[in-house]
Amino acid sequence: MNRMPATIKISDTKQGAGQQGAGQGAGCESKPAITSAIKAAIKTGSIGQGRIDYESHFRTALDRLHSERRYRVFADIERIAGRFPTAHWRKPDGGTSEITVWCSNDYLGMGQHPDVVGAMTRTAARCGVGAGGTRNIAGNNSPLVDLERELADLHGKEAGLVFTSGYVSNQSGISTIAKLIPNCLILSDAFNHNSMIEGVRHSGCEKRVFRHNDLKHLEELLIAAGDRPKLIAFESVYSMDGDVSDIGAICDLADRYGAMTYLDEVHAVGLYGPRGGGISERDGVMHRVDVIEGTLAKGFGCVGGYITGSAVLCDAVRSHAPGFIFTTALPPAIAAAAIASVRYLKRSTVEREAHQRQAARTKTALEAAGLPVLHTDTHIVPVMVGDAELCKAAADHLLEHHGIYIQPINYPTVPRGTERLRITPSPFHDDARIAKLTAALTETWDTLDLPRAGTVFVEAAE
Ligand SMILES: Cc1ncc(COP(=O)(O)O)c(C=O)c1O
Repeated sequence: MNRMPATIKISDTKQGAGQQGAGQGAGCESKPAITSAIKAAIKTGSIGQGRIDYESHFRTALDRLHSERRYRVFADIERIAGRFPTAHWRKPDGGTSEITVWCSNDYLGMGQHPDVVGAMTRTAARCGVGAGGTRNIAGNNSPLVDLERELADLHGKEAGLVFTSGYVSNQSGISTIAKLIPNCLILSDAFNHNSMIEGVRHSGCEKRVFRHNDLKHLEELLIAAGDRPKLIAFESVYSMDGDVSDIGAICDLADRYGAMTYLDEVHAVGLYGPRGGGISERDGVMHRVDVIEGTLAKGFGCVGGYITGSAVLCDAVRSHAPGFIFTTALPPAIAAAAIASVRYLKRSTVEREAHQRQAARTKTALEAAGLPVLHTDTHIVPVMVGDAELCKAAADHLLEHHGIYIQPINYPTVPRGTERLRITPSPFHDDARIAKLTAALTETWDTLDLPRAGTVFVEAAE
């Protein structure tokens, strides 16, 4: 397909019969006259040279990733309902084998819980599959309304608002909230997730980044900001290092300096607190946080994200957030599944207890084997490698030789020099599986001569 060069304006051509279909070929009955500009372009060879090689830009971008050893390959994995964390791995050669997944964010295996699967299939049979449009067009589907009530109750807030993912809830939530507050300054933790960073960026507001979990630095920035409105955006569990923020102390600072608080509990909802309300519930400070954001995709095993807060705040976000207004709502079957999961985990603590127990046992076993486990107070077990290529080699070796799937975590998810395997034990990773994992990691570390416990992993300069 030949294209006109951008320098030739369509208005330079004499239209045969009006503007309709101009430049699109089909439907034009009379051809436009060739102008002198086009004739000159043909003569100089700037037209008719064929299509620009657009693909080369994509190849260059991929080549860059390959040369930096950052090109990602996704394993082809099919989960097996009822047998979590066992899955089928479809190998590159076409064969299939059974593997154990050790890096799922379906932290409690709720994606396969009979209550959750049952709610989803029953609702799909009753209501069909899709949502039928944005909520502006299709209206609310009833399970979504119930889900928002359930989530507001989970976090002790007046209202909840559901988005299509946790990512969108942060991106659209933070940007809309901050935009609606005149002269708002956002104070953002340096380790905040990309979805929060994008929310801050999209708000167009001024921002200050405080050093990760450094409350002294946060206080300095709050003091320097003076009387203007301020929004502190932070997480409870930071998913790569598995460390936790001091939510109560951040709320103290917010009170002292007149700031609002926005807390991402994505890696904590369902998992912490007597009813699964997250670290803020566990620490007894949930009521002090203005906005609590979460996901339905991890601890609750489904998909979707949400914010909870005051009724007026949620209504304002509902009425202004592009990421809420202009996209199709979560389908009723997903909402029903999420309700079942949230309700179940409000009642049952067995999963949370088993989760913490098996995570602690995994850490103990790996540390005893001399593996470089990053100390965490949470369910996340990072085993450090410190090199992108070796990290990928370790993951490949574990999958091919031991039937263990752990996705390597490389830059930009973590800083260069701190590449790691991020292990997430669930209640279903029993002691026998932990023993097998320990032996497999030990063999892999020996075979690839990887760094042992005691090694200092330093972030490489950018
Ligand atoms: C801290 C944090 N917030 C938000 C998200 C996005 O959540 P979701 O996967 O539901 O889009 C993630 C994703 O991993 C995350 O780690």
